[in-house]
Amino acid sequence: MPAEFFTYVHGVLHAERVSLEEIAESYGTPCYVYSRAALERRFNAFHQALFGIDHLVCYSVKANSNLAVLDVLARLGSGFDIVSAGELQRVLAAGGKASRTVFSGVGKTAPEIAQALEAGVYCFNVESAAELETIDRVSRAVGKRAPISFRVNPDVDARTHPYIATGLNENKFGVPIEEAPALYRQAAGMEHVEVHGVDCHIGSQQTSLEPFADALDRVLGLVDALEKIGIPIRHLNVGGGLGIRYKDETPPAPAEYIAAIRKRLEERRLKLIVEPGRAVAGNAGALLTRVIYLKSNGEKRFAVTDAAMNDLIRPALYGAWQEVRAVSVIGESAGKRYDIVGPVCESSDFLAKDRILDIEPGSLLAILSAGAYGFVMSSNYNTRPRAAEVMVDGERAHLVRRREQVKDLFALESRMPADG
Ligand code: LLP
Repeated sequence: MPAEFFTYVHGVLHAERVSLEEIAESYGTPCYVYSRAALERRFNAFHQALFGIDHLVCYSVKANSNLAVLDVLARLGSGFDIVSAGELQRVLAAGGKASRTVFSGVGKTAPEIAQALEAGVYCFNVESAAELETIDRVSRAVGKRAPISFRVNPDVDARTHPYIATGLNENKFGVPIEEAPALYRQAAGMEHVEVHGVDCHIGSQQTSLEPFADALDRVLGLVDALEKIGIPIRHLNVGGGLGIRYKDETPPAPAEYIAAIRKRLEERRLKLIVEPGRAVAGNAGALLTRVIYLKSNGEKRFAVTDAAMNDLIRPALYGAWQEVRAVSVIGESAGKRYDIVGPVCESSDFLAKDRILDIEPGSLLAILSAGAYGFVMSSNYNTRPRAAEVMVDGERAHLVRRREQVKDLFALESRMPADG
């Protein structure tokens, strides 16, 4: 199984020491369940591999931004990678430090930049010349100097799904590496920005080291070129993107990934920043759902569950494969082949296809590897309240986001004026 903290005990799937049957009983379904131990294990794998190097592990908040997840990581000393003022507020609300937070993203607005400056973020990862101008202008108004790095695009193919590859020139992200020296010169001449680092992120769910290594070699070439023209670089941010096992992938372990980077840093005295998201949270969570009906259309069998594409959109959006397990083993039978589908009115509303499962109406299913890009990408499509979220810690379970109620969904709306 891809998720080591989700295991069967006496025929029932548990998260750490808590049975998923009990969680469904107490909190209902659909429900996201996270393992604190899994989060800690994965964060520490990065942190420990970086021993002896000046470093910051900036967990990528977009992967799973629940306050409890951020809290667990902040307590371990995690930094954070954010892409909006909203994520900054979450980090602060969860006890994270702005001074350990880097701000990425192609479309930071002036108010967001001002908020991040006031909070005192560690660095802005700048993605265009226009954004540099805005940061300089806003910093002047706020009376601060903004620490910056450029996110450079090394034109490396991350060989991942096209929607999550970001390191090619055809993608919207970063600045072309050839244009970087001119931009750094411009930044170095600005009064209200301070050049700190070089940043790069080439894509997500990468399962081999090669694209990382290629990108790093190119970026280190840039670091050397900048030093030669009198622009010293203090930190190198290699982004996130390390993949996880969903099915049978064999991604490098965090330690192998860090070792490959460490080798390339050689004698350079650079602080190293990494921004893992999925590699920390992905296998630390599962989506728990109940089968409402079993039905068949001709040859095809469907298990209709109470979770749908609005709860977990990765299968519909990327054709992603996530493991589905019956929470309780009900018999000796191997089961039958089903597509697992939700109640949403779209043919793309599926969570999994062609899975052999021994289930009946009312059975609970766990969709594994759903800790990253699961709840955060969920929506209220079809006026479906979003799922509850539960954090398991040893033998205890904590509700860390209550299930939405329908009235929450239209609380911000109003009818037309009575005289209209
Ligand atoms: N840093 C930057 C600048 C990023 O753009 C991303 C992810 C990360 C770090 C974290 O990447 P990770 O370590 O999680 O691969 N929704 C998609 C993934 C989108 C990733 C976007 N950027 C999915 O469900 O597969």
